[in-house]
Amino acid sequence: MNEIYLRITHLHNMNQNSETVITGFGGSLRKGSFSRKVLEKAAVLMPEGTRLEIADISMIPLFNADHVSDPDSSVVEFKKRISETDGFLIVTPEYNYSVPGFLKNVIDWASVPNNVFAKKIGAVMSSSTGMMGGARAQYHLRQSFVFLDARVINRPEVIINFVDKKVNEKGEFSDENAEKFMRELLKNLVSEVRDQETIRK
Ligand SMILES: Cc1cc2nc3c(=O)[nH]c(=O)nc-3n(C[C@H](O)[C@H](O)[C@H](O)COP(=O)(O)O)c2cc1C
Repeated sequence: MNEIYLRITHLHNMNQNSETVITGFGGSLRKGSFSRKVLEKAAVLMPEGTRLEIADISMIPLFNADHVSDPDSSVVEFKKRISETDGFLIVTPEYNYSVPGFLKNVIDWASVPNNVFAKKIGAVMSSSTGMMGGARAQYHLRQSFVFLDARVINRPEVIINFVDKKVNEKGEFSDENAEKFMRELLKNLVSEVRDQETIRK
């Protein structure tokens, strides 16, 4: 079966079956969070025939290895979403040159005893009020996904610096470049997800 045949079969199946669904999470727990606004903007910029569902991670407790075999229902629900949807998108701010604790906490829960990120395709964006746009946090996050064996899309890198000057309270963007790179990364994410599904069929 050649590649073109596989793709046609896949497109046919996709039309018959369901749209591509990506789980989005991250942001920060802060009311008025800029990274949350970026995540919500990503939902609007998703390619046609796809959907971003934003997961609520605010109720996930602090990681405790004593409870990995009987985790809180919020953890079970989150892991189920990651497993059952086609890919993931994280938008992270940067705290003290790294990944905010609550976000790393969620990833730790999702990694044991079964790692739901294994072989999963995902994308990462960062935003911060600083000059580096959360780049350091983004690279630390990518490092964790190397260990978790997820496939995180490399390009384009979406790093939104001075986010408070580029995104207003209503979540409107005044930076066309940020929007353009976001759109491109989401397109690459979906295309990679679809390619992998094609190969599996
Ligand atoms: C505890 C803390 C540490 C921070 N550390 C950094 C940092 O290392 N680099 C940076 O660019 N911004 C840093 N900031 C600023 C955040 O980027 C900024 O507050 C951002 O808006 C937080 O994301 P949010 O709007 O989604 O809540 C820090 C903010 C907090 C509260």
